[in-house]
Amino acid sequence: MPDSQFCFVVCQDYFVYKKLYDFGLLCFNLFREFVSVDRGLFCYCNLVYNFICMTIKNHGKSAIVSSSSNNINGSEMSHVPVLLEEILQSFDLPDKSLILDCTFGSGGHSRAILGRTNFNVVAIDRDSSVNVFANALFNDFGNRFKFMHGNFSQLVGILRSLNINNVNGILLDLGISSMQLDSSNRGFSFLSDAPLDMRMNVDDTITAYDIVNATSETDLANLLYSYSDEYRSKAIAKRIVEERNVSPIKTTGHLARIVRKIYPSGKHSIDPATKTFMAIRMAVNRELDELYSALDSCLDILCVGGVLSIISFHSTEDRIVKRFMREHSGYNNRVKKNKYDNGDKNQITYDLSIAINKPLVPSSAEIARNPRARSAKLRIATRN
Ligand SMILES: C[S@@+](CC[C@H](N)C(=O)[O-])C[C@H]1O[C@@H](n2cnc3c(N)ncnc32)[C@H](O)[C@@H]1O
Repeated sequence: MPDSQFCFVVCQDYFVYKKLYDFGLLCFNLFREFVSVDRGLFCYCNLVYNFICMTIKNHGKSAIVSSSSNNINGSEMSHVPVLLEEILQSFDLPDKSLILDCTFGSGGHSRAILGRTNFNVVAIDRDSSVNVFANALFNDFGNRFKFMHGNFSQLVGILRSLNINNVNGILLDLGISSMQLDSSNRGFSFLSDAPLDMRMNVDDTITAYDIVNATSETDLANLLYSYSDEYRSKAIAKRIVEERNVSPIKTTGHLARIVRKIYPSGKHSIDPATKTFMAIRMAVNRELDELYSALDSCLDILCVGGVLSIISFHSTEDRIVKRFMREHSGYNNRVKKNKYDNGDKNQITYDLSIAINKPLVPSSAEIARNPRARSAKLRIATRN
């Protein structure tokens, strides 16, 4: 079995049995006085759990993926797909349609599309640590599924390399995955202390350390303001520069402490470091450039009648998506002609039609199940 597959199987088993073990332990402690069968369950789980741990240990280099290539551990095991039912409904397309999932992550959306329709899926992600999930989908769905490592800005080239000219549906579920956020060594989160990294693709050269320690004060302030609407952007940039003049800012913990000092103490609805971290992550991964590039490519690769479904998680991205859809659908009565326009001045055709005027948002039940879904907005358009 290839290493990556072994990893996946072992990881899956490990976490399933770890959960069983914890549950067994709980039952055992709670009910040992009364119910003898729980002791059996506990012993069994304990046995299997120990066996899996031993297997992982013996397998040496790969397994539990604390290594840099595969940052999956514990709570990072997978990402709960957001607005899943709404996404599935948005792809109301003919049989055997081809869907392009541009943000594969742990494959929650792709898996549901493959499992609940007869569509084919091509998925991409810039983070190669998701290979383990892609292998699992390939095992389950065979040739109906293909995964390619790459960026939005490479979309057209990637499809051409697969001899695909157009697709029936495109999904973008923007931002970072739970695996990335929770991975303690990747530096996305201010909740743990880690080297300032934040690269979605670990082969990229620029890290959060470079942005924080080498960007001028003015550019830092602009970046914080324009990417995340951080209203204390100037004060934060000034303090970052003062601190780094004393010694480089190397860790997420150090950066978070600097930002928190700018805000008056007391209760905040979100951690004061949230917006700074988001803006720096966006700069490291050139997320807005990538988004613009994806939107442009969508027009080229979506076939007539095709569906474009985009989930965003903050206002800067949602604004870009909204403007794009409005501009290309003539929403503001702007004249943006389709490239196949026949030249008749009275017959303006637009690239897109907006399928729903207001974005869809998660229900309170979904937010209760998955609080990370709370700021999601889904916009849908169809290709004319
Ligand atoms: C929110 S997660 C997607 C989760 C996924 N829908 C699921 O159900 O598991 C976003 C994913 O998109 C990837 N991503 C973000 N920007 C990208 C880009 N420009 N090119 C390719 N992948 C990107 C990230 O690495 C991450 O894995």
